[in-house]
Amino acid sequence: MKTVIEPYRSRVIEPMRVTTRGERERFIREAGYNPFLLKAEQVLIDLVTDSGTSALSTRQWSAMHGSDESFTGSRSFYRFREAVQRLFGHAFVIPCHQGRAGEHLIARAVVRPGDVIFANTHFATTRENFEEAGADVRDLPIAEALDRTSPHTFKGNIDLERLEAGLAEAGSRARMVILTVTDNSRGGQPVSMANVRAAHDICGRHAVPLWLDAARFAENCYLVKLREEGYAERSPREIARELFRLTDGVFMSMKKDALGNTGGLITLEDEAWAEAIRVRLLSSEGIPTGGGLAGRDLEALAVALDEMLEEDYLSYRIYSTRRLGEQLQAAGVPVVTPFGAHAVYVDGRAFCPHLSNEQLPAWSLSVALYLHSGVRSWETGNVMQGREDATSGAWRWPDLDLLRLAIPRRVYSQSHLDYAGEAVIELFQQRESVRGLRFVYHPPALAQFVATFEPV
Ligand SMILES: Cc1ncc(COP(=O)(O)O)c(C=O)c1O
Repeated sequence: MKTVIEPYRSRVIEPMRVTTRGERERFIREAGYNPFLLKAEQVLIDLVTDSGTSALSTRQWSAMHGSDESFTGSRSFYRFREAVQRLFGHAFVIPCHQGRAGEHLIARAVVRPGDVIFANTHFATTRENFEEAGADVRDLPIAEALDRTSPHTFKGNIDLERLEAGLAEAGSRARMVILTVTDNSRGGQPVSMANVRAAHDICGRHAVPLWLDAARFAENCYLVKLREEGYAERSPREIARELFRLTDGVFMSMKKDALGNTGGLITLEDEAWAEAIRVRLLSSEGIPTGGGLAGRDLEALAVALDEMLEEDYLSYRIYSTRRLGEQLQAAGVPVVTPFGAHAVYVDGRAFCPHLSNEQLPAWSLSVALYLHSGVRSWETGNVMQGREDATSGAWRWPDLDLLRLAIPRRVYSQSHLDYAGEAVIELFQQRESVRGLRFVYHPPALAQFVATFEPV
């Protein structure tokens, strides 16, 4: 059979509300032209994020009903810890309430002013947390990652030559190396196992720990299976185990691949670091057997550590994302290729050549898409990746200005995604109509969550 189907069916449904263009014009004006500030009920199809938006399975719900909500030492924590250790293999397991909380704990516990931290690309919150701790945070993507149409199959790879040189230069100031799998900020691109292995060897030579920001490790592992020589016969779980064996620690948001509506995790080998992080955990997140999560959250996450690596599920997910991407590509929409797993990315600057950087092409496109169709998307570009330069105060424009159509897990059907694709294509056919926006208010960083705008 040619048709690839969702490997699950619905038993509970959530009605969606259709709005008129006139209503949407009012809603977005009232939200300061920031789609993030819209009320969810004002949105028809919500592709703003794949984070915390997964539909839970019957297995997850039934585990949640059996949760243990004891204040400390709950059975649910031990089930969670066992599931984590079985997969990740590290000695210490520290739950926390979401990804950035884990980053914050690490930043406060082990990062010192003047430390240097390298990554393929730091996610925006990771960068912010480490910079706040006084670290010099450096991104080392490979050159192909900056080329939207490069056919390189692992554009998430870290540039190994620059890593070697950077570690040599930083010497004892080098605190850690991070691989973000997949690289959300650069189009959801995967990192190859060969790259992880080489980074592991380099880090070993310089005695610097290698960590993963593993929010989307399952999708990364499935893309390794599909694209990297020698992995076709390996299961995603086996690939994941190999991946984690090459690392000293992992921090991750469990709201993405781990199918949680909330949750975060740190796992690591180093006892001294684990101790320092736990001390911070106690003063900000919660107790070591909860980290701010309820027993039912831990139960849902423990089950997800199985479900997220199921091949039928991963194969459908990669297929449906690629299908949306190929629809856009066939209509000439400038998209980032090869397609990753959790989202399709559109190049805002190429889509709207009539808009300057100051007129925020991808952000303006996101607003136009909402007005046209009720579909909410997200910008990962001039607003999200940009920031105020500490000395000049000028806004720093990032390499890429992308619109992200993120696909929540197990939520939308193929026809919902077809509708979203059609809306982007219709907008592309009348792209000169996309009106530029400019900042009215923005904080110095992480502007996307609170900034407001006005039409130019
Ligand atoms: C790669 C990556 N790291 C970290 C985070 C932060 O996770 P959270 O939203 O759970 O705080 C995100 C969120 O989108 C992410 O994509």
